[in-house]
Amino acid sequence: MNKVRIAIIGATGYTSLEAIRWLLRHPHAEITYLASRKMEQPISDLFPELLGRLNLPIEPFDPQAVKARADVALLCLPHVAAMDHAPALLDAGLRVIDLSADYRLKDAALYEHWYKHKHVDAANLAHAVYGLPEFFRSEIKSAKLVSNPGCYPTAAILGIAPLVKAGLVEPADIIVNAASGISGAGRTPSQQHHFPERNESFEPYGIGSHRHAPEIQQTLSGLRGREVQLLFVPHLIPMDRGILETIYLKPVAGATLADARAAFAQAYGNEPFVRIRETNLPSTKYVANSNFLDLAVREYNGRFVVMTALDNMVKGASGQAIQNMNIMFGLPETSGLV
Ligand SMILES: NC(=O)c1ccc[n+]([C@@H]2O[C@H](COP(=O)([O-])OP(=O)(O)OC[C@H]3O[C@@H](n4cnc5c(N)ncnc54)[C@H](OP(=O)(O)O)[C@@H]3O)[C@@H](O)[C@H]2O)c1
Repeated sequence: MNKVRIAIIGATGYTSLEAIRWLLRHPHAEITYLASRKMEQPISDLFPELLGRLNLPIEPFDPQAVKARADVALLCLPHVAAMDHAPALLDAGLRVIDLSADYRLKDAALYEHWYKHKHVDAANLAHAVYGLPEFFRSEIKSAKLVSNPGCYPTAAILGIAPLVKAGLVEPADIIVNAASGISGAGRTPSQQHHFPERNESFEPYGIGSHRHAPEIQQTLSGLRGREVQLLFVPHLIPMDRGILETIYLKPVAGATLADARAAFAQAYGNEPFVRIRETNLPSTKYVANSNFLDLAVREYNGRFVVMTALDNMVKGASGQAIQNMNIMFGLPETSGLV
């Protein structure tokens, strides 16, 4: 079997390094092109842990050269930059997996409202497939452009969707209390993410303004076929990696904890990367450096309480991108990820 050849655009950031680490162990894939705007040097100079493991230079972005050497491009770029790069790659015939938010919100006006930037690629937005395998596997198979979900949205949607789809909870009474490690903000330094600002500090941010809220609502509303509304409250926690979400949902009359458990078992019984925990509750420690999402549900004072945990760099980003790549190229879905 020929290996799938992969280009990483935006090769100098955290999601790129995470993708490289996993792809080096992938039996059916190889990295053939690494692109950055400002560096031309061996990747192992930039990421010293790769010395002796990946002997590739970082090169300028050239869509035709990428096309000559790769079958698929992972866009590990910030939003806006991603939609500047995707059209040339798609026009050249490559398949593209975008880790940014540029192709997640289906309504360009909604994107412009939340991201404060004009959407410049409506043509490709129209056919982009949301890359959450547990719900959109068949569309991902044939997609030219996969929009990899956000890290918080992956943890929220997987924790809520089975209950909403089964009509077990009130769709306008959902609270998502979420916490993320600092690598979720990427490698580019900023004062807000400077070590003395974050160390020993646990704090909320972006209440009512976090861009992942419309992504979660859009996806849940689509799966339910009617509008779903939620309160999304993110927090930063001084860890390198990891997301934990505690989700509070109001059962509809007559819905029981047994119904909720049955809905999760039905949705995820055959899923390779969703683990339902009966005994230990989910923890960032149990999923760190893995592509698993762990989930548990309890009932307390008239609410379902769903807890989810994932690694923001793996199931929340590069691991899920590789899972999508496996599906797109007809490989075993767990290849390189277990
Ligand atoms: N970190 C996470 O946990 C996580 C989770 C889910 C999704 N994501 C999304 O994945 C994408 C990448 O995240 P990341 O954490 O890897 O970010 P990052 O560490 O900041 O790296 C982004 C890379 O993109 C390149 N870049 C920056 N601005 C650019 C521009 N205007 N034009 C072209 N290239 C540019 C930079 O490389 P050069 O300067 O060398 O060109 C940089 O190394 C983002 O859209 C992010 O929102 C991240």
